[in-house]
Amino acid sequence: MRQKIVAGNWKLNLLQKEARTLTKALVKHTIENAPNAEVVLCVPHLYLEKGNNWTYGSSIKISAQDCSQHSSGAFTGEVAARQISSVGATYVLIGHSERREYFKEDATLLTAKIKQALESGLTPILCCGESLEVRKKETHVEFVSGQLTQVFGNLDNTEIASLVIAYEPIWAIGTGETATPEQAQSMHQAIRNVVQVSTTEKIANEIRILYGGSVKPNTAPELFGQSDIDGGLVGGASLNVDDFCKIIDAA
Ligand code: 13P
Repeated sequence: MRQKIVAGNWKLNLLQKEARTLTKALVKHTIENAPNAEVVLCVPHLYLEKGNNWTYGSSIKISAQDCSQHSSGAFTGEVAARQISSVGATYVLIGHSERREYFKEDATLLTAKIKQALESGLTPILCCGESLEVRKKETHVEFVSGQLTQVFGNLDNTEIASLVIAYEPIWAIGTGETATPEQAQSMHQAIRNVVQVSTTEKIANEIRILYGGSVKPNTAPELFGQSDIDGGLVGGASLNVDDFCKIIDAA
């Protein structure tokens, strides 16, 4: 049985006071309702340590949204995976489509970041997903498989088994347009197949694959009910306490 994950990706949102209020409400909800899912908050670096303090006594985990490919040194402005780990975070997003697009992150860079994360004891959440253009050409399975195999090529089975994968079709991010449960399930099955071909059946059966892209309280139950969908990576709806609690409870 794969335990579901509901991860909220705050992106570049929330001032400290707002972040604290939201987190405290989520702590209260998770303590009172003991959700089935593992709840993860992907916070700006600035709130990693605070987030860890605010969630003390609850099962909520803290994640970074990115890390450096370097472990230390003269890289002004960067934050190392080992620094993220040293303030109590346990996850890190790697290769979100916004990083791939706006910061030109490619497979070589993402592989280096994954290695840093794993060496630092963080669980990488490796993001993948196709654009609308690719989806319209109906080459989305090949495209996403390629994104994954380019990274898997430089990882061993143990490293791949340590990942969580998040499938986020770019056309569904922040647009209000969610992939249908059938579209998402079909891609998740294809992703699990890529993992199996790259590693073993056991690893493919155990790896967790999250869906992201306009997950809302009304769409979460059916998405999370699909056999290969192991939870969600939630953007906009994770900023609203009522919506995010409903999504947590749907898992
Ligand atoms: P939205 O839920 O706002 O579409 O964002 C999805 C996402 O990018 C999460 O990482």
